[in-house]
Amino acid sequence: MRDRRYAHPFRDLRAKLQDATSVCVLTGAGMSAESGIPTFRDAQTGLWANLDPMQLASEEGFRADPQRVWDWYQMRRDGVRQAEPNAGHVALARYAARHPGRMTILTQNVDDLHQRAAARAGEGARIVALHGSILADRWLDACPRGEDLMRRPCEPARAEPGRPPRCPDCGNRLRPGVVWFGESLDYRDLTAAEEAASACDVMLVVGTSGSVWPAAGLAARARHAGAHVVILNTQASEIDDEAHIVLTGSAATLLPRLLDPL
Ligand code: OAD
Repeated sequence: MRDRRYAHPFRDLRAKLQDATSVCVLTGAGMSAESGIPTFRDAQTGLWANLDPMQLASEEGFRADPQRVWDWYQMRRDGVRQAEPNAGHVALARYAARHPGRMTILTQNVDDLHQRAAARAGEGARIVALHGSILADRWLDACPRGEDLMRRPCEPARAEPGRPPRCPDCGNRLRPGVVWFGESLDYRDLTAAEEAASACDVMLVVGTSGSVWPAAGLAARARHAGAHVVILNTQASEIDDEAHIVLTGSAATLLPRLLDPL
């Protein structure tokens, strides 16, 4: 707890969340850790503790060894499919369903656990997947047919099985639909995220190290626009200084305490 002005942080925060007209939630890998999906930068257990992100999460890495990168993403896809939303995802989804239109979730996670929790609780939040979806495929290169206005680009669903699958017509390879290092976020997603961060009354920043931009900058944007910024994390993050209050604990423990009805 950073700020001694909050003698009763949970009571005060619960009140703010009930009164807010707009709540923004920025989530990172720690959000899904209790669903069994590994984080990236936690010492020892984080994926980047033993693996080189430039080999596995960049276009250069994919072109250098497409089979290795494809297989690694297939393994992670299996993990995501087997995972279930945890109590933190459920608390967010239920709050959103009780207050339709109030919450925007800006997630750096490429799993679909926020979406699955929302599908069960009833849709209420807008969910922006800033780093894409690990369950989606897209072409590695621009489809040559797409350059001809009279022809439709090849459909990824038609790719022939392989590691990675290839287009039977043009030989293009599939890649996972995530944003890799060195790539830009989708312009519409980033614009939506910036607008939501600028307009919210409260921003909850859950389970992110705050080390990857532009997502990390959304907390500062919210704070400068007047939002009350709350960080929920098991450890210190790089953006703790942007927060009015830092709550130390896990997403699945803290979010129900903040959001569930008493
Ligand atoms: P990181 O692995 O960098 O950070 C995870 C954060 O979650 C750390 O600050 C942990 O302390 C915290 N944490 C771990 N378990 C937690 C729990 N149960 N509850 C709450 N917090 C917990 O992951 P991100 O910040 O999401 O990019 O990383 C940002 C991006 O870097 C990712 O989206 C990914 C990665 O390379 C792409 O895939 C493009």
